[in-house]
Amino acid sequence: MTKTLVSAKDLRKNYGSLIAVDGISFEIQEGECFGFLGPNGAGKTTTVKMIHCVSPVTSGTLIVNGLPAHINNRALKKMTGIIPQEITLDVDLTVYENLIIFAKFFDIPKREAKKRIAELLHFVELEAKRNSKISELSTGMKRRLLVARALLNHPKLIVADEPTTGLDPQARHLIWQRLRQLKSEGVTLILTTQYMEEAQQLCDRIVVMHQGKILKEGVPSKLVAEQIGREVVEVRVPKEEDERIVGQLTEFSCGHERVGDTLYFYCRDGQGLMKKLVELDLHNYLTRPATLEDVFLKLTGRSLIE
Ligand SMILES: Nc1ncnc2c1ncn2[C@@H]1O[C@H](COP(=O)(O)OP(=O)(O)O)[C@@H](O)[C@H]1O
Ligand SMILES: [Mg+2]
Repeated sequence: MTKTLVSAKDLRKNYGSLIAVDGISFEIQEGECFGFLGPNGAGKTTTVKMIHCVSPVTSGTLIVNGLPAHINNRALKKMTGIIPQEITLDVDLTVYENLIIFAKFFDIPKREAKKRIAELLHFVELEAKRNSKISELSTGMKRRLLVARALLNHPKLIVADEPTTGLDPQARHLIWQRLRQLKSEGVTLILTTQYMEEAQQLCDRIVVMHQGKILKEGVPSKLVAEQIGREVVEVRVPKEEDERIVGQLTEFSCGHERVGDTLYFYCRDGQGLMKKLVELDLHNYLTRPATLEDVFLKLTGRSLIE
């Protein structure tokens, strides 16, 4: 039996007249990795801040671990580890000092904290940087330190807000591996991301967010298969050609989208479509597997990262 850890109904958040979260409902089960996928400004950070009780709910209900999410819900803070979007480390202190100060917030006795810090620095591969100042770390190292810091209190729930934004692929993969490892140990993960690949790599279920609303919810691979199909053919042609081309290709595609200089065709099988393109004397195209980015594109006509 799975247990619902987070349940939101018609959840809203306004900042003055700005609607940041516009009546969303979702449920997160214990042990799963649940993702909020959306571009900048979609309302992801605002949503997760309400979940970990640092931002008050404007209206609607939000239950976390059986209790209403209130500002300063201490019990909830104790069981949650936060990997914030902003790098909130004390730059004047060392790696070790940043962690020991945080351990104090959680009332972890010093001896235990020292042991835990050693384990965590090993876990995120930062042992060699134990005594380095934050200013001496790369962005990837800082993000790894945020992961270690979030784990000090052995959290049952981890909220990772864009944990890999701005990182190179190698640094990104290391964080993905660690998050997957935590999940395999039974931790519930809430992840926000603007990278469809990250959502596909880590999440059991996602919601696609745009302008404070949830556009779709589901299992990443199923969402892609249902919404898009297997393949996408991108054709670079001027917009004026759309009418002529689209009419000739309807039998091969199950949808199309024009974004900027590209006409996207969604297909179960791109082979027939490509043959036809060649017949039409169109050679500037590429075929690739369908992704969550295509789902977003189809739903909004926009790209996730602009
Ligand atoms: N503290 C705040 N005060 C006013 N507006 C805010 C604040 N935080 C976020 N917003 C606005 O709320 C919307 C959603 O922001 P955010 O939740 O940060 O989106 P995301 O994390 O998906 O990029 C944006 O329009 C943003 O400018
Ligand atoms: Mg954000």
